[in-house]
Amino acid sequence: MLSEDQNRRLTEVGAGTPMGELLRRYWMPIAAVAELDDKPTKPVRLMGEDLVLYKDHSGNYGLVDRHCPHRRADLSYGWVEECGLRCHYHGWLWDHTGRCLQQPFEETAHPDARFKDRVRIKAYAVEAKAGLLWAYLGPPPAPLVPTWEPFTWTNGFVQIVFSEVPCNWFQCQENSIDPVHFEWLHSNWSRALSRAGGGRSPTHLKVGFEEFEYGFTYRRILEGQSEQDELWTVGRCCLWPNCLFTGGHFEWRVPIDDANMLSVGWFFDRVPNEMEPYQQDRIPYWYSPIKDPLTDRWITSHIMNQDFVAWVGQGTIADRTQEHLGESDRGVTMMRKRILDDAESVRRGAEPKAIIRDAEKNRCVRLPIIGRDFFLNGSSGVETETSRQRTPGLPLRKEFPFLTGQPEEVRAAYRRAMGLPEPGVDARSPAS
Ligand code: FES
Ligand SMILES: [Fe+2]
Repeated sequence: MLSEDQNRRLTEVGAGTPMGELLRRYWMPIAAVAELDDKPTKPVRLMGEDLVLYKDHSGNYGLVDRHCPHRRADLSYGWVEECGLRCHYHGWLWDHTGRCLQQPFEETAHPDARFKDRVRIKAYAVEAKAGLLWAYLGPPPAPLVPTWEPFTWTNGFVQIVFSEVPCNWFQCQENSIDPVHFEWLHSNWSRALSRAGGGRSPTHLKVGFEEFEYGFTYRRILEGQSEQDELWTVGRCCLWPNCLFTGGHFEWRVPIDDANMLSVGWFFDRVPNEMEPYQQDRIPYWYSPIKDPLTDRWITSHIMNQDFVAWVGQGTIADRTQEHLGESDRGVTMMRKRILDDAESVRRGAEPKAIIRDAEKNRCVRLPIIGRDFFLNGSSGVETETSRQRTPGLPLRKEFPFLTGQPEEVRAAYRRAMGLPEPGVDARSPAS
């Protein structure tokens, strides 16, 4: 059980709070690259700060204060130009470094006053990587945006999915080190929801947790498995400080503010060998709904939607003074202790865990990955479909299991990439 003070220190993300200062040492994914190509401005709320993200005609990304320093108009209604973002109210022009480039009437009235040199807008760094746009709100010098190993893989279909979840980010991240929930929240609950008979899914016999350079791993043995299975020998990752990495996908829990979290999912599906070489020109993105408007209840049909139901069910900010932790929560306890220690070291001026500054190392940052060989080299579609399911997530998926609401064009692009027939067409029947 935690004290109220510890609960607050784990959950507050504003500037100046211990966790807010820790989180500001890391790059946060806030949008898709393709999103800004579709629309050049996006209002963003990140760690309690209201901002606007934009891409100007020169290709610069900017992340600036939502409110114009002149008379506070909302810059997400501004327009982008060759260089910078122009306020729609009186036309002041701001660049991505925070400089004011033009003040049309001031320059007419007082050409020599150079008032524009004396005003600045709050501006943060943005970088593109792996189809995502990343923001850094911390002190300089910024570390590198990690090149996690899957970002270097080829011959894969990648998609990015966003959801806004109305609860604090940290209870979502606690789920990243909770192996036992999978058996109940996903396997058994899905069976109960579909009223499937036939008993329960394999139960957990043993779990293990270890800290490593970039977070923690969690390992499990399920009924029918042994210590030779990769779920035990390799495990999955609670990636520092706010991500779950399963091998084929990442789930970042990005704090919008104390009461809301942006879930950012990055999913990699290896194409079968028959479809190589496969080159993805544009990484698609989409927004997944979390509530059913007809019933006003949370959606429960997909894996991450089930996670969301558990997290929002804990309350907007889970009250950890009322918990009763058991053996399955050993990883959660380890992670809480580590992150509070990390926040304390930042307060003392030290560097926290998992910061990457070495460009050579960042060419490809290796992580524990179950089934790495499959992701790197693939297999034939026939083999993938017929082989025994070696570990969860490896067989060629026909449907997207993680989030509801996948747009038809993304589904169709996935099927084309995988060489799957259009629905209703039997791939084995000869062409007529
Ligand atoms: S409020 Fe933005 S230019 Fe006046
Ligand atoms: Fe889950």
